[in-house]
Amino acid sequence: MRKFIQERINPNIKHLQKSATLAINDRSRELINAGKTVWKFGLGQSPFPVPTPVVEALKLHAHEKDYLPVEGLRELREAVSEFCRVKEGIHAHPDNILIGPGSKELLFLLQLAFQGTLIVPSPCWVSYMPQAHIIGKKIQISHTHFEEKWRLSPARLQQICEQELNHDNASLLVLNYPGNPDGDTYSVPELQQIAEIARQYNLVILSDEIYGQLHHKGEHVSIARFYPEGTILSSGISKWCGAGGWRLGTFIFPPDLKPLRQAMAVIASETYTSVSTPIQCAAVSAFRGGMEIERYLFNCRRILAILGREIYHTLTANQIKLHPPTGAFYLFIDFSHYAEPLAEQGITTSTDLCDRLLQETGVAILPGAAFGRPPEELTARLAYVNFDGNEALLAAEQVAPYDPLPGDFTRQWCAPVITGIEHLIAWVNAL
Ligand SMILES: Cc1ncc(COP(=O)(O)O)c(C=O)c1O
Repeated sequence: MRKFIQERINPNIKHLQKSATLAINDRSRELINAGKTVWKFGLGQSPFPVPTPVVEALKLHAHEKDYLPVEGLRELREAVSEFCRVKEGIHAHPDNILIGPGSKELLFLLQLAFQGTLIVPSPCWVSYMPQAHIIGKKIQISHTHFEEKWRLSPARLQQICEQELNHDNASLLVLNYPGNPDGDTYSVPELQQIAEIARQYNLVILSDEIYGQLHHKGEHVSIARFYPEGTILSSGISKWCGAGGWRLGTFIFPPDLKPLRQAMAVIASETYTSVSTPIQCAAVSAFRGGMEIERYLFNCRRILAILGREIYHTLTANQIKLHPPTGAFYLFIDFSHYAEPLAEQGITTSTDLCDRLLQETGVAILPGAAFGRPPEELTARLAYVNFDGNEALLAAEQVAPYDPLPGDFTRQWCAPVITGIEHLIAWVNAL
């Protein structure tokens, strides 16, 4: 029976494995259960709690039991629209907003509904390409480089559009900033240039801005400002509101892309119907915001900023190459300086490297290969989230907003991260 079923699995899915980020979490849990200490830098989950007013709103709405419209609760779409106007300077009618069970699911529906090539700069978030594989879409991958800060340069996009795209087909360009796995973002001139090229070649842009509110200086700018007619803005409450497990994502469409929004709503109506009602009601309070949520965001950002900077300096001082982060909670690190001693130990791929590091030190990071990089490139993603975000937030709230967090803040409140980094450094230095 097993063999019979094995042969009947959709060939698009057969060669895929469980998402790398979830798999590393399973491996880490196994090691912890076996009594080992694991420094969990693998899974990209916010360390911070869901803000209290949002949790209270969820309690208040726990009794809500009716199905909601497939597009999402009207009040929520209005709150998202207002949030975008205030935070991003983007005007989106609530009718042009789609609420889904996580932006990951919405991205999948988009890929299913949109016929055309997917253009993805690598390194990129782990799920864009597997989703395309499942659906059987054509992928145009564009490898970026350390020197370009792992970003898609306007010149490279121009080259792809001129030389590599089949202009009979439509194309969907995915941009993610602040980025997972690199923690970096695009400058305004870069966004303007990319917008110009996208307009020239009629590209649809899926702008994945799930980390937008976690720009460390609160200075996130969306490409939707420069290419409003062709940009779908993807976000949700998973990262800036610490509510990944609540499963709520948002897509904002320009009016011209109404057919795409409608097609996605059709698929949603035949699959998940709508996002959980209490979660949507609670999310209204997240998007409506207020002083407490602003204070929460301010403190999340300043903790991530000092912690990210500190790790950047420590790793750089030890010949691990990386760029200083500007947002989110990731660093994309390059061990190429250690290529020779690593090879002497039989480590020649990013997967070997992460396996051995986990085995020998308990430090869990994800291989660059999971983010679309060539297997033999010695890169990895480090998510600096292994600390008690609740305690760190309470401590940060005691420091006046105009004062910097004290020098020993990270050692005191983000200790597991600092210790994990020390183990990583000790390992490379002993190679
Ligand atoms: C870049 C990026 N996009 C999208 C997602 C999906 O987020 P969610 O489905 O929780 O909204 C993630 C989650 O890790 C992410 O890192």
